[in-house]
Amino acid sequence: MAYTTDKWWDENTVAVVTGSNKGIGFEIARIFAEQGITTVVTARDEELGRQAVAKIKEIAPSSRVLLHQLDISDPASVDRFVEWLRSDLGGLTILVNNAGFAYKGNIFGADEAQVTLTPYELQTLGQEFVDAIRAGNHAAAGWPNSMYGTSKLMLSLWTAQLADQLRDKGVMVNAMCPGWCRTDMSSQSGTKSAADGADTAVWLALRSPQDFKTGAFWGERNIISCHSTSRPEGYLHPPLPH
Ligand SMILES: NC(=O)c1ccc[n+]([C@@H]2O[C@H](COP(=O)([O-])OP(=O)(O)OC[C@H]3O[C@@H](n4cnc5c(N)ncnc54)[C@H](OP(=O)(O)O)[C@@H]3O)[C@@H](O)[C@H]2O)c1
Repeated sequence: MAYTTDKWWDENTVAVVTGSNKGIGFEIARIFAEQGITTVVTARDEELGRQAVAKIKEIAPSSRVLLHQLDISDPASVDRFVEWLRSDLGGLTILVNNAGFAYKGNIFGADEAQVTLTPYELQTLGQEFVDAIRAGNHAAAGWPNSMYGTSKLMLSLWTAQLADQLRDKGVMVNAMCPGWCRTDMSSQSGTKSAADGADTAVWLALRSPQDFKTGAFWGERNIISCHSTSRPEGYLHPPLPH
């Protein structure tokens, strides 16, 4: 299926995909590279990142694919990455925050939760979650028994807040669910391939600036819900996800 009828990007357009050495992130990076976008693969482990870049170059030999180490839970790594991005590439146009999750299963750790749940106005709420885990009363305090689910909820809400903050600058910010995909995270179970799971993320990222939609949560190229203050056109009667 085509991503857009309006090809607005060129080879100088920079896309960054976090956690793109494997899984859905790899497939998103691979498609950006095939579309002729300068694609930055990021990986915690540089060797795994190198292997991913080589694989993409094999599929799309004329593409421009760069690699940089990035562990989103390590502030020093994030700072190094941002500095490199600014100095070497002058910034970015597309960011896919693919590596944004805590742990699969119901494993709790206050320190890990702290890393995931501190952005902007969600900080207080995130802190309450962390404190409740530390006190061992998160269930009694009404929190779900899922680190993964809560971290995803916080990220979805943060997406909505960012969308509101960046709307006037013409930046679209959306969240999406790839569906249940066969990757390491799902222990290779799932009904979809990682490539199919990448589809909605790429479709959103390549959306024409003329077709501005922001602040929503998407699945299968449809809006599932919306939390930002002004809802995008089409939200009131969203098609149900498959
Ligand atoms: N698979 C599904 O069914 C499914 C369903 C819903 C949502 N999702 C979401 O889709 C996204 C991608 O998941 P996936 O299924 O493709 O998982 P995956 O195959 O396990 O890949 C996860 C990627 O994230 C990287 N990563 C993990 N922690 C990181 C950190 N702190 N900093 C930087 N990178 C980090 C991993 O790097 P390493 O190789 O170093 O571990 C890997 O490259 C996640 O946000 C996940 O929650 C997946």
